[in-house]
Parts: sequence; C-alpha cells; structure tokens
Amino acid sequence: MKYNIALIGFMGSGKTTVGKVLAKSLDMKFVDIDRAISCKVKKTIPEIFEEFGEAYFRDLERSIIEEESADNNIVISTGGGAIIDNVNIKNLKNSSFVVFLDCDIETIYERVKRSKHRPLLLNSNNLLEHITNLHEKRQLLYEISSDFSIKINSTTNIYDSVEKIKNAYISS
Ligand code: S3P
Repeated sequence: MKYNIALIGFMGSGKTTVGKVLAKSLDMKFVDIDRAISCKVKKTIPEIFEEFGEAYFRDLERSIIEEESADNNIVISTGGGAIIDNVNIKNLKNSSFVVFLDCDIETIYERVKRSKHRPLLLNSNNLLEHITNLHEKRQLLYEISSDFSIKINSTTNIYDSVEKIKNAYISS
C-alpha cells in the first residue's frame, strides 16, 4: 500500500470536497495543491495567471507537487491540469494511490459555470464547448495516470465516493 492518496480529475469534479472528507475519515492530512501555490506566492490562482502567465503557474504546480509527494500519510488534491505534466504524473504515481474522479461534462459545466477563480474558464464565448474540448484532450491522461477511478455525476453521494476510495486504497 502506498503512503498517500492523490485525487486527479477535471475542474469541478469534486477533488477538494471529496479529499477533505476522505482525509478526515482516514485520519490523514489534507493538502490542496492550488491552495499551497496561493499560500506560497501570496496571490490567488487568477492573479498568478494574470500577472505571471500559465507557464509560471505550471512551474509552481510542479515544484509543490514534488515537495508534497515526499510527505507521508496525506491526501493530495491536485489541480485539474496537473496531469498534463509527465513529471507530476511520475511524482504522484511514485508516492500515492492515484484516484481519478471521473465526472460527466454536464455536471462539471453546472458546477463551474459561475466560477470566478478558474482562469482557464474565464472569457470563453461558449463555455460548454470549451470544457468539452479540454475534457477530450485530458480524459485519456486521467485514465492512464490513475490506479483507480470512480464515476461522478450530479446525484453521486460524496460519502459513497469516499467509501469506495477507502476500500480500494486499503486493498491496494
Ligand atoms: C486548472 C485547474 C484548477 C487550477 C488552475 C488550472 C486546470 O484547479 O489548478 O486554474 O488546468 O484544469 P481545479 O481543478 O481545482 O479547479
């Protein structure tokens, strides 16, 4: 059994919400990578994108994931784009049981459509189309990067998801 659990999945798939409950029920520490990035730079994620650009954000994301992966007994919630970087996949896979929260597009859309803190989704003329395209590019990466996946939709009970992840983790 690996020491950590890492949650991956598209924006709005519930990584932070599920991660907090999962960590509590396993008595593990919860780490949110976006939050750690914000704390380090003392800026919000949209401010980082706006002032320094996406490449700078990805560098920070890579170094924080590397740092946190070296820790033990933690549940890591990653940003939706973490899997586009091979180094992140390697670090997460080496340190953690990687769980993909596989959420359907309609649910994602409903959850993120009013979000103001996701720079990649701001200023889009057709948000659903934009999400669909990005999702299509990433889906395979989520699948091949994970040890376990669960389907999520608008009716999914968070405690059921947590139970499924716990059982898979314990028997891994
Ligand atoms: C991103 C997802 C965001 C955040 C950043 C980029 C992405 O995290 O890391 O805005 O590329 O999908 P959430 O998945 O928590 O929204």
